[in-house]
Amino acid sequence: LARGPSFSTTSMASISRITVIGGGQMGSGIAQVAATHKHEVTLVDVSQEALDRGKAYMAKSLKRVAKKKHAEDEAAQSQFVAEIMSRVSLSTKPQEAVSRADLVIEAIVENLKVKQDLFAQLSKAAPQQAILASNTSSLPIGKIAELLDSQRKQRFIGLHFFNPVPQMKLVEVVRTKEADQEVVDSAVAWVKAIGKAPAVCKDTPGFIVNRLLLPYMMEAIRLLERDVASAQDIDTAMKLGAGYPMGPFELCDYVGLDTIKFIVDGWHKDGEGLKGNPLFASSTKLDELVKQGRLGVKSGKGFYDY
Ligand code: CAA
Ligand code: NAD
Repeated sequence: LARGPSFSTTSMASISRITVIGGGQMGSGIAQVAATHKHEVTLVDVSQEALDRGKAYMAKSLKRVAKKKHAEDEAAQSQFVAEIMSRVSLSTKPQEAVSRADLVIEAIVENLKVKQDLFAQLSKAAPQQAILASNTSSLPIGKIAELLDSQRKQRFIGLHFFNPVPQMKLVEVVRTKEADQEVVDSAVAWVKAIGKAPAVCKDTPGFIVNRLLLPYMMEAIRLLERDVASAQDIDTAMKLGAGYPMGPFELCDYVGLDTIKFIVDGWHKDGEGLKGNPLFASSTKLDELVKQGRLGVKSGKGFYDY
């Protein structure tokens, strides 16, 4: 077997204007990385307040990068951040924001109907040649595109980034049955152009990473429920015994416990080939934490307090 990812050599000259819809933890990271690699980016969210939050995430993350790049030189740090931020425009008008886009990446709330409606709306305004993509963690890409015509479906794929986006090198490029090979090739080349490594996969629940990661997280929670060890000891064991950068509970808190619950519940209920699979059965511990609003790092409490 050849080692490492295989890449197409398709030129990326045609993808320069990116619109990212949803400026939360993922969308702001995607916008940041695209702008860092010289793309003109428009970031869209539902309100100015949400956009300001997205802009603040980007500025904070860029400052971390700037501090490493230009240690001891505060002026150079500020210039680095300002130069990248100058390529990011903010908008609360999705249709207007996609009207000149080469690539549209959706990173809004993980809800099938809301995503379907958004793309139905965007398809009225985006250029016919634009590539439309979703960053969904768990929903079928083909279903998200269901309301679109066949031409749009041929240019619709999954582009699944990982959290924290500026730091995580992988992007899964998810190919639906309808997607054109040329679109997949362009997406693969674009992922390379923004300094990430692509992994192409079929449109199946969890793609590659989450299909393997979610059973691991759920099994860790069940170890805790069976009182095999404390969360701290399970985390220590996986970090020091298996070389993972975070233990499973740190990672659950980082991703968000509501997100994890949403994914496993959805797959257990009607995930293609996963319905009723005990790997994704609900967990009393997880349900309790979510009910208490302990959603992880973002709410200040999860398995751990922050
Ligand atoms: N922006 C910019 N830089 C960042 C950053 C951010 N948001 N987060 C971390 N960094 C940088 C730091 O500046 C630091 O850089 P240097 O090493 O050059 O100094 C480096 O990353 C390491 O950061 P830290 O020292 O703060 O902490 P760390 O060594 O523990 O690394 C981590 C942090 C990269 C998040 C690491 O713990 C890790 O890889 N964790 C696993 C994350 C993971 O598995 N993510 C996938 C989640 S699943 C998912 O996303 C899919 C889904 O659909 C749910
Ligand atoms: P988030 O809650 O941090 O951000 C979502 C953003 O979308 C919010 O700012 C919200 O105001 C905005 N939004 C909601 N509906 C919108 C609409 N109709 N139009 C425009 N903006 C809208 O969520 P997130 O963690 O960034 O996740 C976003 C997507 O990325 C989800 O599909 C999620 O499954 C996926 N994802 C999440 C992770 C993760 O670790 N959190 C990793 C990979 C993929």
